[in-house]
Amino acid sequence: MARVNDHYLKLAAGYLFPEIGRRMEAFTTAHPEADVIKLGIGDVVLPLSASVREAMHKAIDEMATVEGFRGYGPSEGYEFLREAIAEHDFGSRGVRIDPGEIYASDGSKCDSANIQEIFDEKATLAVSDPVYPVYVDTNVMAGRTGEPDEAGRYGGIEYLPCTEESGFLPSLPERPVDLVYLCSPNNPTGTVAPRAELEKWVEWARANESILLFDAAYERFISEDVPHSIFEIEGARECAIEFRSFSKTAGFTGIRCAYIVIPEELRGRDDKGAPVPVSQLWSRRTNTKFNGISYPVQRGAEAIYSEAGCKEVEANVEYYMTNARLIREGLDAAGFTTFGGVNAPYVWLKTPSGLDSWAFFDQLLERANVVGTPGSGFGSCGEGYFRLSAFGFREKVEEALDRITKAFG
Ligand code: MLT
Repeated sequence: MARVNDHYLKLAAGYLFPEIGRRMEAFTTAHPEADVIKLGIGDVVLPLSASVREAMHKAIDEMATVEGFRGYGPSEGYEFLREAIAEHDFGSRGVRIDPGEIYASDGSKCDSANIQEIFDEKATLAVSDPVYPVYVDTNVMAGRTGEPDEAGRYGGIEYLPCTEESGFLPSLPERPVDLVYLCSPNNPTGTVAPRAELEKWVEWARANESILLFDAAYERFISEDVPHSIFEIEGARECAIEFRSFSKTAGFTGIRCAYIVIPEELRGRDDKGAPVPVSQLWSRRTNTKFNGISYPVQRGAEAIYSEAGCKEVEANVEYYMTNARLIREGLDAAGFTTFGGVNAPYVWLKTPSGLDSWAFFDQLLERANVVGTPGSGFGSCGEGYFRLSAFGFREKVEEALDRITKAFG
């Protein structure tokens, strides 16, 4: 028998969202009449916009001609998309990012999972708690951690508690670490890091020669005056990598397109302490393991930067953020304590009557037929909290609030 990667055996039984799916399925099998409303996984519901659809159709038609056919594209993405990203996502906010520093990919989940591969197997890391589980699980798989303790925390990872008292913002690590995963706007708490907070991190990372892995997949949902990119902070080009996604803004969760930004100045070091450009390793990895996103998908992604495409994205964002506001206000009125939902499409709430997160999950499902995500699934500091996603149809969100109010209000 082939020897397996033992590190996988340290992982908790299943990945969070399939586990929620399994529990929901068990419930619907037992109660086939129940009309379950899903506000668990952050998956979008609005259809592709006209600009995206037209651009993708056009690209397919092009590829059905001898002149327009394309085979393998550049692994890092076509120039047209990388240029549009550099200009619209960064240039428009006064941030200098060269198209060559952008690598298109099939998702921020994959990028944030894969990035650890280009760092040493003994690289040390810190994560927020609660945290998007992918950052932790991929480092466990890579053998950078010990076994989990009773609270599910893996030895070798520095966990940075994000509590109500700290406004759900992580404090600086107590010792230098090589890699720090940050996510703002935050999944799962829905809170956002203000400029001063990001400045503090960049200063710390530079002083400690650490790299910040900054997940900005939800930046389009920011409504207040805070940075959208870590690269809006002076000095971040020497200490940060950023992840961005088209999934939630342009309805690409099924289509798949995202990108990662690695500034040319960013350096790691080799075993002799000599500096190595991080982008060189990522580029090498990308060229070896990936053949790029399909041409029609990249044309579809480019279309969101057209005048009409921008308006369509704004309309999508407004739709989901109105849902977020309704969830927040509805829950507050029903007596819940809520957080987030202003700069992110997630509302983080305290479970009622001191229930633990999974107990509330079960009660919510049974009494209101609503599915959400237990906070403890994101880490031990998420225990006693719960996440509701704003990615649903308005009428479903309203119906869910009505049921929650009747069941728990
Ligand atoms: C979530 O619900 O946290 C996200 O949808 C997961 C993801 O984007 O991979």
